[in-house]
Amino acid sequence: MKLSFIPFLLFLDGVNLQVSQSPHDLVLSPGSPMKVTCSVAVTSDPYMYWYRWTLTDGLAHMFTSVGSGIVDPVSVDGFSASRPNSSHFVLESQSVAPSTPAVLYCSWSIHS
Ligand SMILES: *[C@@H]1O[C@H](CO)[C@@H](O)[C@H](O)[C@H]1NC(C)=O
Repeated sequence: MKLSFIPFLLFLDGVNLQVSQSPHDLVLSPGSPMKVTCSVAVTSDPYMYWYRWTLTDGLAHMFTSVGSGIVDPVSVDGFSASRPNSSHFVLESQSVAPSTPAVLYCSWSIHS
């Protein structure tokens, strides 16, 4: 297998251990599909977020979900997100780009 041009996608857990991402890290060849699931165990029905850090843009917000089945925006740069239930927030891409190595962060907050 030729490994000439591979983006490295690393998924870090939250500051505390109350959020987890599965798988923890991924190395993909360009054009591969990607799916990462973030889960929160400590609270019911939190707001959940995906952020992305890149060299060019720094830390940028991607998706917010205020509840099961609700995600905003619909898509960002070939990524989409879904909230299958109150505790899980899924980030997906049909085809990862070679030019966008990134660190992806999942976080949550209690809604008021
Ligand atoms: C929530 O969705 C995730 C991802 O689809 C699934 O693995 C999990 O079992 C679901 N949990 C509940 C409580 O339905």
